[in-house]
Amino acid sequence: MERTFGWGIIGAGVISPSHAKAVLANAPRTRLVGFCDVVGEKAEQRKAEFGAEFATNSMEELLARPDIDCVSICVPSGEHGDCTIAAARAGKNILCEKPLDITREKMDKVLAVVSEAGVKLGCVFQSRTSPLNRQLKKMIAEGEFGRVLYADLAGKDYRSPDYYKTADWRGTIRYDRGALMNQGIHSLDLYLWLVGQPVVEVTGFWDHLVRDIEAEDTIVGSLRFANGALGSILYATSSSRAGLPRTIGIHGTEGNVVLAGRKPTIERRGEELHLEGTPDLGASGQLAPVEGHTQHVRDLIQAIEEDRDPEITGKSARTAVDVALALYQASDTRSVVRLPEA
Ligand SMILES: NC(=O)c1ccc[n+]([C@@H]2O[C@H](COP(=O)([O-])OP(=O)(O)OC[C@H]3O[C@@H](n4cnc5c(N)ncnc54)[C@H](O)[C@@H]3O)[C@@H](O)[C@H]2O)c1
Repeated sequence: MERTFGWGIIGAGVISPSHAKAVLANAPRTRLVGFCDVVGEKAEQRKAEFGAEFATNSMEELLARPDIDCVSICVPSGEHGDCTIAAARAGKNILCEKPLDITREKMDKVLAVVSEAGVKLGCVFQSRTSPLNRQLKKMIAEGEFGRVLYADLAGKDYRSPDYYKTADWRGTIRYDRGALMNQGIHSLDLYLWLVGQPVVEVTGFWDHLVRDIEAEDTIVGSLRFANGALGSILYATSSSRAGLPRTIGIHGTEGNVVLAGRKPTIERRGEELHLEGTPDLGASGQLAPVEGHTQHVRDLIQAIEEDRDPEITGKSARTAVDVALALYQASDTRSVVRLPEA
């Protein structure tokens, strides 16, 4: 008989229902055991909502349970590393929300502890599960558009002043950062994943132009990739309109891929290609459909059973965070920052 994996969810806020639904969608291979939140009532509420077995305000209590094999980390971004480290030391397999953490030191430590503990760490970047995005990744990697020359990412999102009041960690440098690290990280990850080249140099500027937050509501950057291609990033949550389309352009010697809104424009050697599906550049202002999380949960349990890496490893998930951090550093020091060789 196939094994059932018990699942716990740490952090019972906005994103936790996506994990709960994904665990329920994978039943009977997975079983939703319980929730933990430092605010005990939030854990109790989610327990009742999803018919889980227990709720606690103590992560240690949840991690001590032998009937939990895997945990989802759904706490504020600046606490992802600490919770992931605690879970790995308790022998749990982990599905960590984006971003992996928001400092290099913590991400280094996460990777070291997870490797020592011998558990599996999968990371959430649901845009990478879109069939169209996967097909484009393969085509670009196989050189169907030639050598990549330049690539651009633009996201003009909107976050109201009230959004930042929904939780005290939002927009803080210690626990969140802003437009790029929080809202834009899905698109940044997708952009870098599709280009498929390490970033070697970064420069740019960030600022908070309209919101009263510590971190950025607007950021621009220039990148140089390892193959010599050049890239640009503009990400803002200071737009006056919600839902402007995010765009990614990848331009090679043999063709162009432009993902904008729901319709991709793909051209190879002068011929337009019509591929099935919508691009999915990450949820803008509303929660993403749960399908991506469902695939991440399934992938983690298959990775455990097959003793392989999950599709999105910690090393892969940190790529976008490292680029974002280099961009902040470049702006803070008015310099060009070189990224270490991977
Ligand atoms: N993949 C996506 O599309 C997506 C969408 C939204 C949020 N997220 C990510 O999910 C994470 C959480 O975001 P959110 O909007 O759900 O935040 P939230 O503030 O709504 O929820 C976080 C919860 O964690 C609890 N918490 C804080 N520290 C804790 C700890 N040490 N142990 C247990 N509970 C703790 C808080 O009390 C809160 O209830 C963020 O990192 C965010 O980037 C991802």
